[in-house]
Amino acid sequence: MDGAMMSPGFDVERVRRDFPILSETVRGKKLVFLDSGASAQKPRAVIDTMVRTMETAYANVHRGAYNLSEKATAAYEAARSGVARFLNAADEREIVFTSSSTAAINLVAHSYGRGVLKAGDGVLISEMEHHANLVPWQMLRDAHGIELRVARITDAGELDLTDVEAKLADGVVKLVAVTHMSNVLGTVTPAARLATLAHAHGAKLLLDGSQAVVHRRVDVQAIGCDFYVFTGHKLYGPTGIGVLWARMELLERMPPFLGGGDMIAEVSLERFLPAPVPARFEAGTPPIIEAIGLHAAIDYVEAIGMEAIEAHERVLVDHATAKLAEVEGLTLLGRAQDRGGVFAFALDNAHAHDLATLLDRTGIAVRSGRHCAEPLHARFNVESTCRASFGLYTTLGEVDYLAEALSKAREFFN
Ligand code: ALA
Repeated sequence: MDGAMMSPGFDVERVRRDFPILSETVRGKKLVFLDSGASAQKPRAVIDTMVRTMETAYANVHRGAYNLSEKATAAYEAARSGVARFLNAADEREIVFTSSSTAAINLVAHSYGRGVLKAGDGVLISEMEHHANLVPWQMLRDAHGIELRVARITDAGELDLTDVEAKLADGVVKLVAVTHMSNVLGTVTPAARLATLAHAHGAKLLLDGSQAVVHRRVDVQAIGCDFYVFTGHKLYGPTGIGVLWARMELLERMPPFLGGGDMIAEVSLERFLPAPVPARFEAGTPPIIEAIGLHAAIDYVEAIGMEAIEAHERVLVDHATAKLAEVEGLTLLGRAQDRGGVFAFALDNAHAHDLATLLDRTGIAVRSGRHCAEPLHARFNVESTCRASFGLYTTLGEVDYLAEALSKAREFFN
């Protein structure tokens, strides 16, 4: 099928030309990059912006009265405004730059977790969380005595809302922290409904948007959540930059997590007074080039349009669902009604790493293992899986090629 004909108004071949790495070959084969869920490739606009900044406008931020530092500070703060617009935050001060989604969730766990939650309060997560939205809460449970509850998922890989409600019913849970889109199952969780449910039971809602933000328009005010985190490198931006959005009134109640330069209003040898939000949460020299790179990535996807990206992906997801169903011996994990372009699968008894190695010989890059979601694999009683995850540059032809390579791999293993 011709990739360029996939969805009206979206020219995937043109998009692909923006990503220099996509013309690379792997062992003489065309690269078929199906690991964007782990880390996406970068468009020329991001690469050029970061290089140009380092060549012409780089200095530390918030610390210099000279021209270059002012330029860098303006670009760094413009990135904050760009992220605020992207998420439709009410106020750009609600955007805190971190180094990753993991760091953002750890910030909430340490700061909101220890500063606002009390021993005995509950945190509700789900069985399909990435370790980044599991381990910080286990650590908080062990250090601070919160009760950690886990909502079940159904066999289709959807959040069991009846179980969520049952676990909220006694009012112990003060924070629901769940993924907005599973990095293994592709399941998109009903974010607005979860916000309503959480609030009805006196809890706040944190969404891990690491995968979702890449595939859909996210409007934190329309969703009605309280915390939203995502990372730059899956959104076609650089590594080393993550975002925590939280409602201003929550950020204002949260104590700093990391101490150091730039997060203080005043400091003496005896004590310190924290700076206002968001500087209070950005101790040390921040990821300057990375924030500016993330801004370029957001401008890039916004210029294409999140709606067009989502429509393109819907076509890809439907096509992949049909094509993968035709591969004999293939078991897909999850079949949620509302899902994004992430497909984890096992092929007969082939070990996931062997399968990924074989696919690599055909130029296909997929992730293999448990994808930082060990409890989820245990839930489905599988040791490990291969995972194909799509980006805005993925084509229908690549999905066909994957399905053919899997059928051939099955013959090989048999
Ligand atoms: N969180 C990334 C993934 O799902 C690394 O692969």
